[in-house]
Amino acid sequence: MAKVYIRTYGCQMNERDSEQVAQMLIARGHAITANAEDADVVLLNTCSVRDLAEQKALGKIGMLGSLSRQRPVVYGLLGCMAQSRGSSLLKDVPHLDLVVGTQKFHRVAEYVEQALNRKASQRWDDVRFSIVDVDEETGSQSTIRDHLVRPQTVSAFVSIMQGCNMHCAFCIVPSTRGEERSRPINEIVAEVEQLAARGVKEVTLLGQIVNLYGRHEFPKMDGKSPFVQLLEAVQEVPGIERIRFTSPHPIGFRQDLIEAFGRLPKLVEHVHLPLQSGSDRILRAMRRTYNRDKYLDLVDRIRATSPDIAITTDIIVGFPGETEDDYRETCELVEQVGFDNAFVFKYSPRRDTVAAELGMQVAETIKEDRNHALLEVVNSWAKRRGEALVGRQVEILCEGPSKTNPERLMGRTRGNKIVVFEGSPRHVGQLLPVRILRSTGYTLYGDPAIHSN
Ligand code: SAH
Ligand code: F3S
Repeated sequence: MAKVYIRTYGCQMNERDSEQVAQMLIARGHAITANAEDADVVLLNTCSVRDLAEQKALGKIGMLGSLSRQRPVVYGLLGCMAQSRGSSLLKDVPHLDLVVGTQKFHRVAEYVEQALNRKASQRWDDVRFSIVDVDEETGSQSTIRDHLVRPQTVSAFVSIMQGCNMHCAFCIVPSTRGEERSRPINEIVAEVEQLAARGVKEVTLLGQIVNLYGRHEFPKMDGKSPFVQLLEAVQEVPGIERIRFTSPHPIGFRQDLIEAFGRLPKLVEHVHLPLQSGSDRILRAMRRTYNRDKYLDLVDRIRATSPDIAITTDIIVGFPGETEDDYRETCELVEQVGFDNAFVFKYSPRRDTVAAELGMQVAETIKEDRNHALLEVVNSWAKRRGEALVGRQVEILCEGPSKTNPERLMGRTRGNKIVVFEGSPRHVGQLLPVRILRSTGYTLYGDPAIHSN
């Protein structure tokens, strides 16, 4: 039995993949530890979407490898950076044993055991296992299916597809995650049913371009896309109270999906709608296949169906060739939509992407300034959206103790806003009506009186 430390960088899909790896290790008798210094196996599940994410993981594995150890330790890099950089990582990280790509998470436990055995049978301080597996594997989208559900787990991620065929000019994901591949609806529903049987009340359906789920595999039925068919099937699972999904592409929001928000009561009032830029010129260069008018029209149509829906987004500043005017158009659009929250990223050139080869790269200081100024617009809207809930009664799903104050509980509204309140342990896992008393930027505080009776 080995003690395994797993650290995850990047998006929810990576968290989900790490959960699969952890579950398989536990099933084979190993234990997960939060203490890297004390671990027999160190696994970092990496992100490549920006250079900073890669540097963080490389720094971490370098630091952990430099600690003096009294026994053999296995070091592995998994996921997107492993896929993208492959065996060259063995040169960059001298003590690295495993490089396992995005289609091979289900093999990690096996490789870990092989490496441990090899190290145990040799002089461990100068042996390195050096296995690199970054091959494609047919059906790998169906290997992310096991969960670590603890008694009070209320919310779970469900991976419904892998890969992306969009090739946005800035994005490395199509090369790290491969072609779009979707799991069949019945398989996903069976997984959701198992989660519900273990007490899970909320599922988040995950995919790199989640609302185009199944477009290559499954037919439309009665004018409904495979994704809407899936939402309808998950809606029918008893015990599941809320359905979320991420991350969609605006072009995948056709009328059938918009109408689903009016029709399916479990589908929450929140959409993440990655904008990237408010300038048509930049959107074209990014290959996003919509323009600002289409984006605004989409927002209007979504709000017409679901007036109080929370809308969040992703924005990149400093894409090659972005002028002050382009940037201003982004700021104006952000003001016009009034997002509930937005992630603002400084453009980071990625290997093997179209944008990395473009001229007119924007200076780092300008990216910094634009990032900072845009965040102020974003924060002021987030604050306004939070304040609009003060005095109202909302439904929250209580997840457990608040991270900032374990004496209090926290839950999320259907719009995905965090609410902190004073409750008792029996509230964990429950849907509760709470009156919002006040808002501080991104956190809301709820009235304990409502739910104590
Ligand atoms: N649909 C995908 C998006 C992947 S990347 C998913 O969530 O799985 C998430 C966000 O990172 C993108 O929406 C984009 O805003 C940002 N991003 C992607 N590539 C980037 C780059 N090269 N530089 C800066 N930000 C980037
Ligand atoms: Fe990346 Fe665009 Fe796909 S952002 S994940 S290539 S939709």
